[in-house]
Formats: sequence, structure tokens, C-alpha cells
Amino acid sequence: MRTKIVAGNWKMNNDLAETQTLIEQLIQQGDFSNKRVMIAPTAVHLSAAKSALSASKIEVVAQNMHQAEAGAYTGEISGKMLKGIDVNTVILGHSERRAYFGETDAILEEKVAAALKQDIEVIFCFGEELEDRKAGNHFEVVASQIKNALFALDAAALKHIILAYEPVWAIGTGETASPEQAQEMHAFIRNLLAEKYGEATAQATSILYGGSVKPNNAQEIFSKADVDGGLIGGASLKAEDFFAIVKSL
Ligand code: PGA
Repeated sequence: MRTKIVAGNWKMNNDLAETQTLIEQLIQQGDFSNKRVMIAPTAVHLSAAKSALSASKIEVVAQNMHQAEAGAYTGEISGKMLKGIDVNTVILGHSERRAYFGETDAILEEKVAAALKQDIEVIFCFGEELEDRKAGNHFEVVASQIKNALFALDAAALKHIILAYEPVWAIGTGETASPEQAQEMHAFIRNLLAEKYGEATAQATSILYGGSVKPNNAQEIFSKADVDGGLIGGASLKAEDFFAIVKSL
């Protein structure tokens, strides 16, 4: 059985007061079982979120980290720093990091290695742009993103990777991949993993879908065989919506 996961990516939203309010509201939404639920607040509020959720099963994860262990990288955050505040999961390769902060496959390969070295689990994001899909290149693009950043890892290391397929054209646009499009790509990814790492590893890897997942479409997307949960942006900023999505899984 693969682990089912819903992760909320808060991006650059919520100041401290808003972070605390949203966490209180999330706690009030109640309990959940048989799945992992995560939130990714801004790095500034990771510690506050950890304390506020100390008695909750909701996990606190980071949105990014630098590939170096330490050094002269003004403004950056290391894996060791995350580990030091007991943050054990990091999102890497989000399309906004790739598009606005120049994160290439080569940089992401280094970041993944740096995270695993610190014993930090990775939610690795990838996905094609609209032009790729229109041109029919989406499978090729996704395969190369995964191969370039992850395929140097061995099967033991891959156990600490959660994949998140996020077609760029569906992020924050209100346009979701159809459940069939999501399933088709997730099955393709699982097959790619099976070819490289064997069927058992492929079957054990959680593959999340992200891109305009909302309470009204989550259930249909999550019903697909190879969709193991979601990475949620906009809808994770409202406790009710986020938990409606959590309950759909
Ligand atoms: P969205 O964002 O749900 O707002 O489309 C998803 C993401 O960027 O992870």
C-alpha cells in the first residue's frame, strides 16, 4: 500500500498571525487517519508552525532549501537548518522555483542529494508547460525532468522521495488536468520508475497531483489508480477547503 498524502503549499502567503489562525482552524477541522497531511508555510514561520502543531498529526514541511551545507549564500536556508528545527520534509523543484529562481535539473539534482544527506524526505515537483502539452511533448519533458534530477539515486534513496506531477498550465490557473490526463501521466511515471528501479519500488512510490485541486474536483482526481494524493496551493489557504480535500482522499 502506498502512503496517501495531501500537502498544502502556502507559498509566500500568511504572516505570523495568519499562520497561527489558519493552523488553529486546521486543528479544529478534526482528525484524519490512513494518510499524511502536511502544510508548507514560509520558512520564517516553520518554527512557529511546528510549535502550534506539536500535538497534531499535521506535518510541517519546507518549501525549499539550498544545495550547499553552509556558507556564503546570503538569504538561503540549508538542510541542516531545517533538520535542526525538526522539519523532515522539503518541497523541491516547484515550477515557480524553476521559472522565477532559475532552478535547473542540475541544481535540483544537487538539492535532492543535499536533502537526503540530511535525512530529509523530498517532495519532488515537475511538470510540463502548456507549449509542451500542445506540442505533444509532455511525456518526454516529464521523463527528462525525473531522469535528470533523480535517476542517479539508488532504490534505497528513492524511498525518501515523493513525486508531485504539477502541469505548469494547471497551477493557479483554475484549469485542472482532467482525471484521465492525471492518471495517464501518473501511470507513465510509475512505469518509468518500474523500468529503472523495478516494479516493487515503483508500486511503493507515492505520486501526487498538483494544479488547481479544489474541494469540487479532488475526489475525482484522487479516485484514479495512480494518483496517491495532492499538492495543493490556493485551496490550502482556507482550512475548510483544505480539509474538504483531505477528506476526499
Ligand atoms: P494551485 O497550486 O493549487 O494553486 O494550482 C498548486 C501548487 O503550486 O503546488
